[in-house]
Amino acid sequence: MRAVKRYRVVTFGCQMNAHDSERIKGMLEEIGLGEAPSPDAADVVVFNTCTIREKPDTKLAAYLGDAGARKRENPDMVIAVGGCFAEAQRERIFSLYPQVDVAFGPGTIAHLAEWLGAGGFGAARGAWGTGDERAFAATLPMHRERGFQAWVQISMGCNSVCSYCIVPAVRGREASRRPGEVLAEVARLAGEGVREVTLLGQNVNSYGRDLGTDFAQLLRAVDAIDGVERVRFTSPHPKDFRRPVIEAMAECAAVCEHAHLPLQSGSTRVLKAMRRTYSRERYLKLVDEMRAAVPDLALTTDLIVGFPGETEDDFRETLSAVEEVGFDSAFTFVYSPRAGTEAVAMAEQVPDDVKRDRIERLVEVVQRVAAERNALRVGRIEEVLVEGASRTDATLLRGRTRRNTTVNFTGTAGAGDLVDVCIERATSTTLAGIQAEAARRLRIPTSAGTTGSQKLKTRYVKTARTAAASGTPVQESANGSSASTAPAPPSGSVRRVSA
Ligand code: 5AD
Ligand code: SF4
Repeated sequence: MRAVKRYRVVTFGCQMNAHDSERIKGMLEEIGLGEAPSPDAADVVVFNTCTIREKPDTKLAAYLGDAGARKRENPDMVIAVGGCFAEAQRERIFSLYPQVDVAFGPGTIAHLAEWLGAGGFGAARGAWGTGDERAFAATLPMHRERGFQAWVQISMGCNSVCSYCIVPAVRGREASRRPGEVLAEVARLAGEGVREVTLLGQNVNSYGRDLGTDFAQLLRAVDAIDGVERVRFTSPHPKDFRRPVIEAMAECAAVCEHAHLPLQSGSTRVLKAMRRTYSRERYLKLVDEMRAAVPDLALTTDLIVGFPGETEDDFRETLSAVEEVGFDSAFTFVYSPRAGTEAVAMAEQVPDDVKRDRIERLVEVVQRVAAERNALRVGRIEEVLVEGASRTDATLLRGRTRRNTTVNFTGTAGAGDLVDVCIERATSTTLAGIQAEAARRLRIPTSAGTTGSQKLKTRYVKTARTAAASGTPVQESANGSSASTAPAPPSGSVRRVSA
């Protein structure tokens, strides 16, 4: 038997769960376990689960079946189940899945190490992780996949009562993390080389109400931290997206020109039944306000089809809202009844074949609109944070624009670099292009002694001003030749110049 036990964490669900998994991994490493390349090779397998729809539940059942079979051959193996499904099935989890040794909810991962014991040898069978007191896992060690990007949790739980949603039941009432703690974590991360932070909460825009502060103040404070070049946040609730946050987005150089703004339905009648507390009109007005303040803003969304009582006319309003807003992308979901939610008991559940038909039609419209939006980027220069090699072609690099679109491009940059990319092609989901750095450097020398990112910001400002002053900007390709089409300056620059 190996002296060092090995763990594998399998994650389902949202970014909050992925972030919790970073803590789970960090904690397991601290008690002496090493990471296994696959669940098959692990002595301790942790499933960090989701229960938002039926599908992740079904996938989990398959994983647990495999793990159970291996456990029959190796009875020392430990199977732990954490996260939202575990919390939702708290009373039944050990009878549903007898192979599970330890189960714990999303707020109690801090105790996992105690339950497993040093080296992962001490797991008590059939233990439900107590720790009913939910706590931020912020002080736990963390295992981050990428050195230059980090998630930072700013709140836990959710006070909304969306009638389809299980989250409030499993993650509890909203509690904000103290701003000093959030800022200290961001400063520490920036010191470790993190350039992009994503602030996480179930409803980031109601952050701070329990502490006498608000999300706009937090955004501004995070933006001011040295070394943080990009700030993202997810997810805001449209009902709480107020003017101060829009202004902070418009004025803070590091805050990216992107908002993920879940619409759910384009029909006011359905929105009411969902208890979203905004109407279609109010959402559209918010979009107008945001776009007026933050030019070139990318908007993405979540949409549900087949909510109980949704008629063909209601559904068409969702289709038309996609067109009217012009979403850059959207996550589309078939309504999935969740035990314990209000909607599960509603009359007029929509038949499966109707749901299937609607999701297909919705995906078609979403893809067409996204392709049109992405096509508008062709000919522009976008700032890209390089994440590594392209997933489809190892000779290309992959990264994300400030507007959060994936770009595959030809270039020489390394992971973690911020580079300019000339966009040459677009699909509904990705952009493609060529690194523009060399050409840019030739044209606008940067002052010595600044950091890479400061140089970029300086250069953007100069580029925009140069373009405005000459009136005839010239696009330079990476090999130094020029073309006659004029690229718009990168989105961030316009804002920074006028701010
Ligand atoms: N059925 C389908 N989709 C759901 N979502 C939340 N609950 C359900 C459900 N019961 C979607 C919402 C939410 C996203 C995270 O998941 O669109 O914004
Ligand atoms: Fe995330 Fe919700 Fe799934 Fe929990 S149930 S993992 S909060 S999406």
